[in-house]
Amino acid sequence: MPSGKYGIIGEHCPHRRASLTYGVVHEDGIRCGYHGWRFDVDGQCIEQPAEADNENFRNRVKAKAGVAETMGGMVWVYVGPSPAPKLPRFDVFVLDGVREVGYATLECNWLQIMENSVDPHHVEWLHGFYFNFLGQTQGFEAPKSFQKKHMKTAFDEFEWGIIKRRVLEGHSEADDDWAIGHPLVFPFYMRVGGQWIDQMQIRVPIDDTTTWKLFYTLHHPEAGVWEPQDRPVFYEFPYKDANGEFITDYVEGQDVMAWVSQGPIVDRSLEHLGRSDAGVAMLRKMFKENMRKVANGEDPIGTIREDHEVIHLPCERDKFGAGTAFTDQWITGGSMRYSPLKEELLHLHRTAAIARERAASGS
Ligand code: FES
Ligand SMILES: [Fe+2]
Repeated sequence: MPSGKYGIIGEHCPHRRASLTYGVVHEDGIRCGYHGWRFDVDGQCIEQPAEADNENFRNRVKAKAGVAETMGGMVWVYVGPSPAPKLPRFDVFVLDGVREVGYATLECNWLQIMENSVDPHHVEWLHGFYFNFLGQTQGFEAPKSFQKKHMKTAFDEFEWGIIKRRVLEGHSEADDDWAIGHPLVFPFYMRVGGQWIDQMQIRVPIDDTTTWKLFYTLHHPEAGVWEPQDRPVFYEFPYKDANGEFITDYVEGQDVMAWVSQGPIVDRSLEHLGRSDAGVAMLRKMFKENMRKVANGEDPIGTIREDHEVIHLPCERDKFGAGTAFTDQWITGGSMRYSPLKEELLHLHRTAAIARERAASGS
């Protein structure tokens, strides 16, 4: 809106149901294109041009409204019972750095993607073994940091969701992958990161079989230098080729193949869950418990009602013990290879690593 405020109201006009998507945005709300009824950000009807002075009638008309606000260069909306909770200000959306957001619209249910976030073993197989197989058959070098064997995994419930931990072959419980881990943030995020690339993965259910998937990434290497950004750089990442086949020679493309190839809504009655699926079972239980809470009028986990500056989520710094090789591999071997900022990001992380080395050696 010209006032700088954002609002969200139901699509269909309470008068005779025309779409307000085709409305006229005003200083204080939106006007329906059909007969000009005007609504404020709370959905209250404030003008009915052809009804002249029937104030009683006007006051009785209210469109459904939610709450909208900006954070990290995106508009966030809440639609649900009042009073609206606070928007959780997670670190990646609030901290300074270079931001870029890869997105795609995927033809599968969002919960399949959430279940992948509590499934550490797939990293070794899908992004390790399968990636390596593709490399060998198609003639490229697959990244090594994903190939290490999982010796041990664990899942802990915490205030924002589930933290997953792993010990990889040759590592110990003192390493970040176990000591810190990283979280599934209930109900629709996953937080990942390492080596000053910090990412929030957002899974927006558009309908039961369509999900808007975003990789919101913050690059803020220690000793790095960057220009302030007005808003993140957004780009669509491709996941199917011209023949309609999945593009599987990069990490997130492999994930998309797995999520979407499970089917629009995977039939769980046909699964065979094993011990390695403990995180998936924990997540399903968490959803059921929190659905019960909502049905009883209680807040689900992850609801915050206090004002706050930033919520720091636990996340590894040194990922898979791969050091700065990890940043290069993530940028060139992941969906960031499609980022318009790819070369700048490689440069940012490399020059920052050199500056840190210089500072450490005192030269
Ligand atoms: S349908 Fe919107 S003003 Fe008539
Ligand atoms: Fe994955």
